[in-house]
Amino acid sequence: MSIERLGIVGSGIMGAGIAEVAAKAGIDVVLRSRKQDTAEAMVATLEASLAKQVAKGRLEEQAAKAALARVSAHHELHALSECDLVIESVIEDLDVKKELFARISDVVSGTAIIASNTSTLPIVELAAVVENPERVCGIHFFNPAPMMSLVEVIRPLTASDATIAAAAEFAQTCEKTPVEVQDRAGFIVNALLFPYLNNAVRMLEYGTASRDDIDTAMKGGCNFPMGPLALLDLVGLDTSLSILDALYDEFRDPNYAAMPSLRRLVAAGHLGRKTGRGFYTY
Ligand SMILES: NC(=O)c1ccc[n+]([C@@H]2O[C@H](COP(=O)([O-])OP(=O)(O)OC[C@H]3O[C@@H](n4cnc5c(N)ncnc54)[C@H](O)[C@@H]3O)[C@@H](O)[C@H]2O)c1
Repeated sequence: MSIERLGIVGSGIMGAGIAEVAAKAGIDVVLRSRKQDTAEAMVATLEASLAKQVAKGRLEEQAAKAALARVSAHHELHALSECDLVIESVIEDLDVKKELFARISDVVSGTAIIASNTSTLPIVELAAVVENPERVCGIHFFNPAPMMSLVEVIRPLTASDATIAAAAEFAQTCEKTPVEVQDRAGFIVNALLFPYLNNAVRMLEYGTASRDDIDTAMKGGCNFPMGPLALLDLVGLDTSLSILDALYDEFRDPNYAAMPSLRRLVAAGHLGRKTGRGFYTY
């Protein structure tokens, strides 16, 4: 099954990035946000991003216009009714996602695939609330979606082979490299990455080194493009905390137990780049 019309639910960092990737790959994109003005703001952001790429000579003007023309903004879930694939990318909260999956299942056709872009949550619990659980999987893009080449395709116990194959093919159409992984918290990347990020916060809390020296060390010593504390700010500290909590819930590994200072920053509303303040100020 090839994906010609993609629905995206959620207008945050990831929803916007996935919309750009898919529209540039020639797929029609239906953006759905709870409010019409946020959905339209996403289209405006996409237009600005495409214009920047044209100005830098990375994208033909015609291709930018064509990509933009493929995207429409809506606030009603019913707008998703003709989508072949819907990717949910809202806040990392299982109850919110479950409620949304049940509602999406009511509006899409019996052949549509419903996927989550969750970083850690159990896909099978989302499959359990829809009409066709065999058509549910995880399609996990990385941040920033237009730049990162990987997509994790997550196979819950309930998914059919056809669903997993269609998800992998969709990732390839988006010019991404898919990897398949079983439905375990954190999948491949976050299960391996988050103990490292959490231990960087621990090191900062213990006063072993300063914020800047921790980030400089991991860039210069491991050739990583950014340090762990800057990466946490990019991911979003609320999202990072939810990821660690989900990993800890599943595995009870102390490396996944979120450091108190991360929890306090989130409680203070300092969520990283998206709010202008996290470990760094923007
Ligand atoms: N940030 C990352 O680096 C990253 C990477 C890969 C996957 N993800 C996953 O993508 C998803 C979205 O993350 P994001 O970084 O775009 O988050 P974000 O904070 O930028 O956006 C969250 C979106 O959820 C919406 N939302 C909040 N509460 C809601 C509710 N009760 N009902 C419906 N919508 C609600 C918000 O309006 C917003 O559009 C999460 O599942 C996250 O784990 C995030």
